[in-house]
Amino acid sequence: MVRSAKARTALSSTSDPLRLAILISGRGSNMATIARECLERRINARVAVVISNKPGVAGLPTAQQMGLRTQVVPSSGVGREDFEKALTATLDEHAPDLVILAGFMRVLTAPFVRHYSGRMINIHPSLLPKYTGLHTHQRVLDAGDTEHGATVHFVTPELDGGPLILQSRVPVKTADSEATLAARVQATEHVIYPRVIAWIADKRLDWNGGRPLLDGKHLTQPVVEDFP
Ligand code: GRF
Repeated sequence: MVRSAKARTALSSTSDPLRLAILISGRGSNMATIARECLERRINARVAVVISNKPGVAGLPTAQQMGLRTQVVPSSGVGREDFEKALTATLDEHAPDLVILAGFMRVLTAPFVRHYSGRMINIHPSLLPKYTGLHTHQRVLDAGDTEHGATVHFVTPELDGGPLILQSRVPVKTADSEATLAARVQATEHVIYPRVIAWIADKRLDWNGGRPLLDGKHLTQPVVEDFP
């Protein structure tokens, strides 16, 4: 990964802190969790910018209260090409080592994704490759599945289709509603997403041209962690 000169003085550490750009479209609970882990130096990284494609979302004041720089790059009423051009320009101003999609509700085009190839990760609320797309919790309930979870993966042009890194697995309980299941899964997201970022910051995880290596071993399957 390319490291920027700016990052080198930000934290005293044995290696340079990773510069993060976090993209949100809503509440930003994953963003806030990741930012807190960085501010409290449990991850050797710092949040260079939080970007929302929607003005007025709850994640923006949350980020500002944490002392983070925020920017809005509006997507509404803007063509896809113009939006991505503006997003690229804003992102590149901050020279991120890693772009983190955290509830960012825009489908990204292949050229945009390729620009950040190996430097962009996402969290999706399902045990990928099951349930790509939206409304995952209700679809899991409708199918009568007994387990569900979340997945952190590298982003490739295929929607929710890049190499899988880490999954949280939770039981689906008979009394579950969409809301209770979503809450159980989201609590696990706040554990697994910072963990993957720490792996990258500590150089334990590498994109390796699309065949990710964790601690020197190929990740042919995601690492799976069980939660109650
Ligand atoms: C999370 O459930 C994540 O899996 C999905 O969008 C949601 C974002 O939540 N991609 P938050 O904005 O981080 O609270």
